[in-house]
Amino acid sequence: MKYLITSALPYANAELHLGHVLEIVQTDVWVRHKNLNGDQAYYFCASDTHGTPVMLKAKQLKIDPEDLVSDMKRNHEETFANFNVNLTNFHTTHSKESEDFVYDIFNKINDKGHIYTKEIEQLYDEKENIFLADRFVKGECPKCNSTDQYGDACEKCGTTYDALELINPISTLSQSKPVIKNSKHYFFALSEFKDFLKTNIDSFSNQAPVKAKLNEWLDGELNDWDISRDKPYFGFLIPGEEDKYIYVWLDAPIGYLSSIKHWCQNKNLNFEDLLNDKDTQLIHFIGKDIMYFHLLFWPSTLEASGFRQLSEVYVHGFMTIEGEKMSKSRGNFILADAALEYAEADFYRYYICSKLGNDISDIDFSIDDFVQKINSDLVGKFINIPSRTINFIHKYNESKIINNQTRLNDSFSNRFNQIIENTDKREYSKAIKEIMKIADETNAYISDNAPWNLAKNGKIKECLEVCSEAINVFYSLNTLLMPYIPNITSKVKKIMNNSDERYSAIFNTTLGELNEFSHIIKRLDIENFKGLIEINE
Ligand code: 2FM
Ligand code: ZN
Repeated sequence: MKYLITSALPYANAELHLGHVLEIVQTDVWVRHKNLNGDQAYYFCASDTHGTPVMLKAKQLKIDPEDLVSDMKRNHEETFANFNVNLTNFHTTHSKESEDFVYDIFNKINDKGHIYTKEIEQLYDEKENIFLADRFVKGECPKCNSTDQYGDACEKCGTTYDALELINPISTLSQSKPVIKNSKHYFFALSEFKDFLKTNIDSFSNQAPVKAKLNEWLDGELNDWDISRDKPYFGFLIPGEEDKYIYVWLDAPIGYLSSIKHWCQNKNLNFEDLLNDKDTQLIHFIGKDIMYFHLLFWPSTLEASGFRQLSEVYVHGFMTIEGEKMSKSRGNFILADAALEYAEADFYRYYICSKLGNDISDIDFSIDDFVQKINSDLVGKFINIPSRTINFIHKYNESKIINNQTRLNDSFSNRFNQIIENTDKREYSKAIKEIMKIADETNAYISDNAPWNLAKNGKIKECLEVCSEAINVFYSLNTLLMPYIPNITSKVKKIMNNSDERYSAIFNTTLGELNEFSHIIKRLDIENFKGLIEINE
């Protein structure tokens, strides 16, 4: 099977934060897992570059939006690499490939009669000469009268509404009172795809809460989708127009395809053959805030334009920090690269995955818990196995393992398979828990057999047997951890003098001569974490 796997395209107006890390690690683990299983899995991403926020940010920085998005693309790519994410390709929606796809798709949908125009009323800022997107207008909630609410929904009472309904609206761009102005907009007739969506829900997601949400939307009225924006805007012009642009949310997911195509071109591969192969799956990892776009708009766009359909959308929850929503005003906003000044990337990967399951609930990052988990699991259980055994192998057997000592490892084989299955089901926390349980049991085996006493009493053969049993299990656990902590596990592989890239190593690798066991990981000290989060009470 071939897997074309994507995570949501990060928006090119800001650096990545720890919430992005959750998603890109979740995705990367699964891509690595598929490859370890012998499939061909590829990870595609890109910068999401168009729209008002990028345009305004560039204006504020007094640079061209083109420069902002290319700087940010580089920045994001570096952060992916810093977190040991093995990307196949990172492209940009501000590219020739994207432009070609966007027009191809727009024209195909239009030719089939799924696009129409309509005059609509919108709030307009006469000082800045711009129509106001919902997030650039604030006012009183029409339902509960709470002040300071955005133009789409009230954070206090949860009501959603049209920006025109806000009481006493104010433009957040100029602090002026907006006027109501008419303009022609292009609409995609999403309502025509209701039956298609209903029939296909089951194939798009296996996650119960996701299906429930989709059913709820499909049981209600499905509004047609406004896919144009007036100038000023940073994006692709609507064909035949000079001051109307394609809405960023139409072109963003098309960026998935353009990243794949860009890679195919560089590799001299046939994009159509790869995409349309019946053994190719197209899978999107996303956060629960953008389900509407990926499970209603995007499959309908693909269907309407005759492109191949996506295979699955896999949804995760948000990351909270010490139990609170991450936000700049609360002071608990953690930039991804800043986090790396406190601990190495694999530690964050491990911690996040130790909490990730198949549902879409939020996962919490807490410093105490993080430090405790790394110290107790990775240092206290996992690395403790070779720390307690490998020196005897070096000292008494010229660094060579006794290779038929696989009784302990063999006894775990069903559980190893179960762990692989849980990783496959994206039940990472279950997989990791079981890995640590086996590490615990292996440490107990070492304690029970006390190789240090055996050596002291001259029972060198027995001592070597015990250590070899333990090291074989350790190598298996290392293989199972490869998707999760790729940097640490590759250091271990170097020590083990092995370069296996398949799970099958667990069952049939013969370890040869071991290298010196040098420093692999160090305990975390809670004292060193001051400054990572300053929660404003
Ligand atoms: O929510 C976001 O940050 C968007 N930039 C995600 C886009 S995903 C895809 F559609 F491109
Ligand atoms: Zn309200």
